Amino acid sequence: MPPDRLPTGIASVDRLLGGGLETDVVTELYGEGGSGKTLFCLDVAARVAREGRWVLYVDTEGVSLERLRSVGGSDLDRLLGRFLLSAPKDLEEQGRAIAAACALARDGRRPTGLLVVDSATNFYRLSLSSPEEDDAREALALELAELVATARARAVPVLLTNQVWRSPKDGSLEPIGGSFLNHAAKTILRFDRREGPLRTVVLVKHRARPEGSASFRITSRGLESADGG
Ligand code: GTP
Ligand code: MG
Repeated sequence: MPPDRLPTGIASVDRLLGGGLETDVVTELYGEGGSGKTLFCLDVAARVAREGRWVLYVDTEGVSLERLRSVGGSDLDRLLGRFLLSAPKDLEEQGRAIAAACALARDGRRPTGLLVVDSATNFYRLSLSSPEEDDAREALALELAELVATARARAVPVLLTNQVWRSPKDGSLEPIGGSFLNHAAKTILRFDRREGPLRTVVLVKHRARPEGSASFRITSRGLESADGG
């Protein structure tokens, strides 16, 4: 595995990514509700925390702690000791939470293994078609720039989740936030629902890997490769 990768622990996804998440970039996960984005973030976060590194987790949906209990198992207390969780309630609070997380990742006093924003576009989405839309886009663009710079400066992988809307043109599911989010992210993964607990991850964009896909399964123990191995 190259030194600049953070393995996700899901063999099929790690193969797709050439060893794991790139550590110096922002990776965007998008997909419809229930496609497994939050579980994926928590699974990787639990892995990082188990190895003793810190996880900075910005949770705009208010579900992560409860979910972490299900992936944490008997390690939960130890894992929580390595989590710094913030739960902003609006776009302004999100901006402050991201600035604080970036400052912590940069000052290096706590060795940070992962920074998560789940979801990055929840509050932005609420501003769409309102008079606040332009301000909200600008605020989000500044947050993204800060996250990109932090990932690059400290080799802290950043995971952002993003929701989708259905294009009236062809009915396809498109990520919210348009091109500025897609430019900030050097790796983009689309999560698709399949039957039962099966999910597919499609590699839409990567600096060094060809397009492709991988499958995983949601289980009570976390996420497991569904591509044999
Ligand atoms: P949004 O935040 O709504 O956009 O969704 P998401 O992409 O973050 O989905 P999330 O990670 O919350 O995925 C939850 C999915 O996992 C749901 O379909 C749940 O039914 C399913 N799920 C959660 N725990 C288990 C489990 O132990 N076993 C199985 N089979 N499915 C589970
Ligand atoms: Mg989610």
